[in-house]
Amino acid sequence: MANIKEINDSEAKVCFLIDSVTTNLWSFTQWKAALNNKNARALGIYVGDKLVGVCVFQLNFDEAELHFMAILSDFTRRGFGSMLFTKFLYVLENNNIRKVLLEVSSRNLSAIKFYEKFNFTTVGIRKNYYKDGTDAILKTKVIC
Ligand SMILES: CC(C)(COP(=O)(O)OP(=O)(O)OC[C@H]1O[C@@H](n2cnc3c(N)ncnc32)[C@H](O)[C@@H]1OP(=O)(O)O)[C@@H](O)C(=O)NCCC(=O)NCCS
Repeated sequence: MANIKEINDSEAKVCFLIDSVTTNLWSFTQWKAALNNKNARALGIYVGDKLVGVCVFQLNFDEAELHFMAILSDFTRRGFGSMLFTKFLYVLENNNIRKVLLEVSSRNLSAIKFYEKFNFTTVGIRKNYYKDGTDAILKTKVIC
């Protein structure tokens, strides 16, 4: 059984570890800053007492940006990503967010499929966006 809750910088180390084996996006210092950022929010999904996935986002007036989303590979394809993302979308709805934006690597086919399942549409491409030179696909979804 999984449960989802808001997390803070006390989970920075685990978040950094999850990041290191998934998207490799932020350093530990960047995680500390992200989880201490008053304008950002983070949700964690726990299986028992183990944090297995994280979603970090920011609300800007009536728009939201997804900054980080990952599930540990040992726990993927079991619906945990969908549970966490559904909660994220619920938080957006409850904050009267009109639309949400995210970026995903053009090589990340599993994440692209995942976001398509949630009816995100592509609205642009940022060339050479990532450290490895891959493009970012900009996706959006209208919430309400
Ligand atoms: C993308 C990610 C969050 C999905 O998490 P998950 O827990 O596996 O997702 P779910 O089990 O809820 O899967 C939901 C749907 O997403 C799609 N999907 C997820 N992984 C997929 C894969 N490897 N291949 C194809 N489709 C996939 C499927 O449509 C799936 O539905 P199904 O299982 O009924 O076919 C997870 O793979 C992940 O953390 N990847 C590494 C980090 C990452 O890429 N983050 C996104 C960066 S923008």
